[in-house]
Amino acid sequence: DWTMAEFRATKIAEIREQVGTGRVICGLSGGVDSSVAAILIHEAIGDQLTCVFVDHGLLRMNEREQVETLFRDHYNIPLVVVDAEARFMAGLDGVTDPEKKRKFIGAEFINVFEEEAAKIGGADFLAQGTLYPDVIESVSFTGGPSVTIKSHHNVGGLPERMNMKLVEPLRELFKDEVRALGRELGLNDQFVGRHPFPGPGLAIRIPGEVTKERCDILRKADAVYLEEIRSAGLYDAIWQAFAVLLPVRTVGVMGDARTYDSVCALRAVTSTDGMTADIYPFDAAFLSRVSTRIINEVKGINRVVYDYTSKPPGTIEWE
Ligand code: XMP
Repeated sequence: DWTMAEFRATKIAEIREQVGTGRVICGLSGGVDSSVAAILIHEAIGDQLTCVFVDHGLLRMNEREQVETLFRDHYNIPLVVVDAEARFMAGLDGVTDPEKKRKFIGAEFINVFEEEAAKIGGADFLAQGTLYPDVIESVSFTGGPSVTIKSHHNVGGLPERMNMKLVEPLRELFKDEVRALGRELGLNDQFVGRHPFPGPGLAIRIPGEVTKERCDILRKADAVYLEEIRSAGLYDAIWQAFAVLLPVRTVGVMGDARTYDSVCALRAVTSTDGMTADIYPFDAAFLSRVSTRIINEVKGINRVVYDYTSKPPGTIEWE
């Protein structure tokens, strides 16, 4: 039974104790978890912390600019932004298996962090915004059958050879608690209320092969969908909403021409911790508005479907 103010004070003491005079690299994803972790650690150890934001080309529309603004302008926390699109796309070339995508992305993140650590003369610790649900969904349940549902990139995806020790101050928290801690640390409601976004980014929302071209198509469709959700005033009622670009082409007709393009699936769920989820019941008018806009505005998509699967049996992400 503790308050967020106490949690903050306790964690700051723990971080100082763990880190000592060492140097820490914190991987930022732009989401709430890693941002809260970074701000907390910065409060604990100041300029022993270097934040690294990897632009892997799998981000949403304008996401990189938003992170830069938040950290540099609002918090004045030094931020290194690494342009890593080319190497991530090269590594994902030909990879279609979801776990292989996750393992590659997790390992490549670490490679980038280690390179950045070397540039500042070495780092002893890697900080991440890992939450409790990331931990439990990535490990095999003890006593039961050995089942990994997915290797969340910051847990099961870490290579064993990594030579930095982990700092994970949010490891025992659920999402709603991280949001409360974020508010305690002065983040505004709009930021703490952001929908979760997975570290592997758009790669796990493009079943099949990931290419820059497909990422660009998905980014546009996703932005239209989110814009409609915001203007309908539904953003805060939804845990997470996003578009998925399917590796299936279907026939359509636009004007008097035949089209043969990709299918886009829309996902929106309600949840309290991401462990279970229900579909969000949009009304038909909303869904047809989004569908029409995506097909009209996004070249490469000619059909939109809505995912009606709760978790379980589905997971929230498609991979
Ligand atoms: P699933 O798809 O497992 O997702 O039902 C549950 C929640 O976790 C997010 N998620 C991830 N977050 N790294 C992350 O940081 C990952 O590898 C990852 N995989 C899933 C997902 O977006 C949802 O909020």
